Amino acid sequence: MLLASVLLLGIAWGPGPVLSATPASLVSAGQHVIWSYAGLTPPQPLYTAISVGQVAGIIFFKDNIGANISSVVTSLKNANANSPTQLPLLMMTDQEGGQVRRLSGEPTQSAKQMCAAGTVSSGGTGAGQNLKSVGMNVNLAPVLDIYRVAGDFEDQYERSFSNDPTKVSSCGASFITAQQAVGVAASAKHFPGLGAAARGVNTDTQPVTLNLSASEIRSVDELPYVAAIAAGVKLVMPSWAIYPSIDASRPSGLSSTFIYTELRGRLGFEGVTISDAIEAAGLSAYGSDANRAIIASEAGMDLILAAARDANQGAGIVTALANALDNGTVDKKAFDRATARIASLRKSMSF
Ligand SMILES: *[C@@H]1O[C@H](CO)[C@@H](O)[C@H](O)[C@H]1NC(C)=O
Ligand SMILES: *[C@@H]1O[C@H](CO)[C@@H](O)[C@H](O)[C@H]1NC(C)=O
Ligand SMILES: *[C@@H]1O[C@H](CO)[C@@H](O)[C@H](O)[C@H]1NC(C)=O
Repeated sequence: MLLASVLLLGIAWGPGPVLSATPASLVSAGQHVIWSYAGLTPPQPLYTAISVGQVAGIIFFKDNIGANISSVVTSLKNANANSPTQLPLLMMTDQEGGQVRRLSGEPTQSAKQMCAAGTVSSGGTGAGQNLKSVGMNVNLAPVLDIYRVAGDFEDQYERSFSNDPTKVSSCGASFITAQQAVGVAASAKHFPGLGAAARGVNTDTQPVTLNLSASEIRSVDELPYVAAIAAGVKLVMPSWAIYPSIDASRPSGLSSTFIYTELRGRLGFEGVTISDAIEAAGLSAYGSDANRAIIASEAGMDLILAAARDANQGAGIVTALANALDNGTVDKKAFDRATARIASLRKSMSF
């Protein structure tokens, strides 16, 4: 039954190496991929992929959110009811506050306003309750980037709590604690920090290099992660920028130096790493989305965000990761440890 569904998916999604991946590897790979789709109606292949255990979760964008979003989320969860993994789906969106919100409602203030006004905790609670009210259980927030100059990349939409690292630390930790108390996991982003990016410098649209010294990265940009990890943040999203003082060859999210040595080793993070959008133009040097997903997984990225609003992207990445597992490109032991971290996060979800 499982194999039959997998073969059907292979045909529906066109030519490719799907037939060569083993069903077990497809399920294992699927545990690492967050899918997306366009519009108000999830496509049938997404429901099918969920039912055969090839989907870890879904990211929802503004164009997915209509009046019936709760029913849509429920229908996707229902498709998961008999999947081989028997783990809740990770249902996520970007609900930072102010201008960066996919759902209407809380937090209506920007991160900068909340931190200045002392309303971060109620904003975090509000974000959690808002997501929970539509069945979502992961928020891709808060931003822990420390902006440098008024109106720069993070400050232009007031996504950064402050330009003061100690304020970002305390506000970030308050947001995480309040939101996670509602049962909605928080994602601290974008490690080790995009706060030094100038206005118009965006990893979604171009490769970005931030020439900060290692000591500035560690004493300024990474400081809020110490508080966030102490507060029990469940996910961390590395950035797609290159920081040559620590790793000159790879963007943070494709860098084992950042993920293993810096985030897990130096800072002691034991939760789940989640990528930023894998199709980001900042990664243009790293081939197809599927190839990038393999490189990210090799570097220690647990979850791959297939955010192109196209179920074919998620399917292609699952297939490529399964093949990379089968042919040994991706180390099975490290991959399985990541699978276990993701499973433990999913198991902890109460809705
Ligand atoms: C949600 O609304 C869309 C657009 O009207 C519709 O196509 C879809 O079937 C609805 N889904 C659910 C689960 O209610
Ligand atoms: C960063 O440093 C490199 C090498 O010195 C240089 O080529 C690049 O222009 C610098 N980038 C910025 C944004 O300053
Ligand atoms: C293993 O599979 C991946 C994904 O299809 C592919 O990119 C890679 O080239 C393959 N490696 C070998 C050695 O076959």
